[in-house]
Amino acid sequence: MSVATWEAPANIAFVKYWGARNLEEAIPRHPSISMTLSSCVSRTTVECLAGAGADEVWLLSEGGGAERPGGTFEGRVLDHLERLRRHAGRRERLRVLTRNSFPAAAGMASSASGFAALTLAALDALGVETTPAELSELARRSGSGSAARSVLGGYVEWPAGDLESCHAEALARAEHWDLRDVVASIQDGPKEVSSLEGHRRAPTSPHYARRLELVEGRLREVRGAIEERSLERLGPVLEEDALELHLVAMSSRPPILYWAPATLAVLARVRGLREEGVVAWYTMDAGANVHVICPPEDEPRVARELAAVSGVRDVIRDGVGPGPRRLEEPLPGPVPGESG
Ligand code: PMV
Repeated sequence: MSVATWEAPANIAFVKYWGARNLEEAIPRHPSISMTLSSCVSRTTVECLAGAGADEVWLLSEGGGAERPGGTFEGRVLDHLERLRRHAGRRERLRVLTRNSFPAAAGMASSASGFAALTLAALDALGVETTPAELSELARRSGSGSAARSVLGGYVEWPAGDLESCHAEALARAEHWDLRDVVASIQDGPKEVSSLEGHRRAPTSPHYARRLELVEGRLREVRGAIEERSLERLGPVLEEDALELHLVAMSSRPPILYWAPATLAVLARVRGLREEGVVAWYTMDAGANVHVICPPEDEPRVARELAAVSGVRDVIRDGVGPGPRRLEEPLPGPVPGESG
């Protein structure tokens, strides 16, 4: 019997993945660049089960409970297990236990960290040796494309690639530049329109073609800013790219509006903080939450100020991290009789 446990972090994109050339295979229309986080992680144990039967997926909660997630999420995990088993040329059924370090209600996207941890743990349990490029390819094919970036630490670029080769690559290690991400958690529970659906609708926006023209220049700026460790150079591009993602989403058919009133209040507060001399720049994924990128010395003030904005439910303090790691201790399994 073989078992392996891995931890993989979430990541926050500076230039966002939005729209795919091939959505099933998560081949993006354009490259993206992200920073891998440190504290917001998924931990996953995969165990090979002896004998026949079915794969099992258990979602563990902080309180120690375990439940079968069901629905689309469980379906995507089962599909991915089948894909990884095929890659490994193996037939064993697998039991998956998974837990996020951040509360589900915080509205943080957990699919990148979750599918990165699942890919790492399943391949390890199945005894498959993989290169970082293969790992990233396989994580990408989970359907959560941004998982391709979460298998690497520090600053990561995911080129647009093609069906033959499309995997993320390291740009710089975490030690290169200590940046923080203070997340204003606004949204409670899952977003109404998934990022998968957002990618599908992106080309229906009249602004999408222009985004594709602009993104190359932005990628160059972000690479340069990372190399120079210049937040003054990174910040404006970060905000421009996030706003453009939402512009595309809002003008897609049918339109998608991810923002809540508190989202705008946080954006205004970040602008105000800059006028007061604080170095802080915002970005947003496909949701109402706002990620504020800042240097370590400004993090405490940013966290205090965001917590005071009306409508902010919680503030999560995170920062750049070194990427996934293998854990020696497996997660505690479900006790017999727990909800199936
Ligand atoms: O990996 P997906 O399919 O959940 O898409 C990620 C989309 C964004 O989070 C909005 C942008 C990104 O590059 O992470």
